[in-house]
Amino acid sequence: MKIAVFGLGYVGLVTATSLSEVGHQVIGYDADTDKLESLRNSEVPFYEPGLADLVSKNIDQGNLHFVDHIDWAIADSDVIFIAVGTPPKEDGSADLKSLYQVVESLGQMLERSITIVVKSTVPVGTNQAIDRALNALLESRGLQVSCDVVSNPEFLREGNALHDVFNPDRIVIGATSRQAFDTMRRLYAPFHFTCPLLEMEPASAELSKYAANAFLASRISFMNELSRLAETVGADINQVSTALGTDPRIGHHFLHAGIGYGGSCFPKDILSLRNMFWEHRIESPLTNAIQQVNSEQRHRFAKTIIEHLADAIDNSTIALWGLTFKPNTDDMRDAPSLEISQLLQKAGANVRLYDPVLNSAIKDRFPTDSQLEFVDDMYEAVHGADALVLVTEWTTFAEPDFTKVMQLMRTPNVFDGRNFWDPDFVRSQGFTYYGVGRPEIR
Ligand code: UGA
Repeated sequence: MKIAVFGLGYVGLVTATSLSEVGHQVIGYDADTDKLESLRNSEVPFYEPGLADLVSKNIDQGNLHFVDHIDWAIADSDVIFIAVGTPPKEDGSADLKSLYQVVESLGQMLERSITIVVKSTVPVGTNQAIDRALNALLESRGLQVSCDVVSNPEFLREGNALHDVFNPDRIVIGATSRQAFDTMRRLYAPFHFTCPLLEMEPASAELSKYAANAFLASRISFMNELSRLAETVGADINQVSTALGTDPRIGHHFLHAGIGYGGSCFPKDILSLRNMFWEHRIESPLTNAIQQVNSEQRHRFAKTIIEHLADAIDNSTIALWGLTFKPNTDDMRDAPSLEISQLLQKAGANVRLYDPVLNSAIKDRFPTDSQLEFVDDMYEAVHGADALVLVTEWTTFAEPDFTKVMQLMRTPNVFDGRNFWDPDFVRSQGFTYYGVGRPEIR
């Protein structure tokens, strides 16, 4: 099939590349011409393992093209994906400006019936609104054509996007006609998915996306809230998590306590969901609590560090390992490291920052300040430090040379924000160890 993808951010580019990989002819369009130029040279503007190679391969095979003219993108397409960003506005609601700009362009340029697939995460009701707006525009031009608008939310995890796009758990399709469902089935046929393709109304598809993210986030916040009690009563939240997850009705995923979730998806989607509840005047204490627990968690962790160092925090040196919101990405959106470093700095500490993919995009997210220093080596970060703080659990940090760390640090304090290390082992190396929801001494 011939497919156009509008919006080549994270979701759009992964979608376009995977569709080309299975043999579709794909044209990607983005309003950012610099991005298009980079992509034509197979330069992916963000870090996602394996993606640049796959982009390059499909460009070379002639399945994937990037163009800067909308009319070129839509000329021969059977299906158009919309994957533009829907960032939160100040009130938390999703900003649909870019989305409607695309709809407006399509309404002015399309000459024939086509299937429009919305990949962007959009509030419930948006697909229906797009359908009306687009078909009204086409009608106003005197055209006897009508476009199906399909909701097809994505469930990709950053850092695992290629695995997820080729091995999904389900494909959700929200449409209003048999023809649209069949088009989507044809489109996904070459992937040979073994997972279910769930057909539903667009509103259900839209809500499923928010429900999935909010539910996963609620598990994390529940464990984080529980970790506070665990700390106080001398329980270990990791052991509790194992006991919980072993119940097949619960499962082990997303029960990991720590400094909470970040990224562009959970925080944004929970705000947007909360907004939908508000708009419809429905109370949602649970949605509010997910977000509240999450933001408190970072503060509590920074407070633990500050209280432990007490007066020695002034002019101390604290090393932060891992700055991105999670491993295998260079995404800094809502990364806990930003807030934690700021709180430590405010308390008087000098903060040394290290991340395995430290690049200018990461550095630019931090304020320029003499109390902040970026280093290129994880061990250089702990040189003369009074505390080592693990913020993001990159595998590089799984088994550090603790003997070396001990020799380099001025005061051997370890604060493990992801419960990544074995407390007994770290303590046996002579460190003071603090995790999240773990007893201080065993
Ligand atoms: C999330 C969902 O997992 C995807 O299914 C969804 O498609 C995506 O959002 C999206 O809406 O686009 P992502 O934000 O890439 O994916 O990252 P996750 O792996 O889900 O992690 C989110 C956050 O939760 C990270 O900050 C991670 O550190 C944190 N987390 C995760 C925990 O604190 N504890 C856990 O047990 C699991």
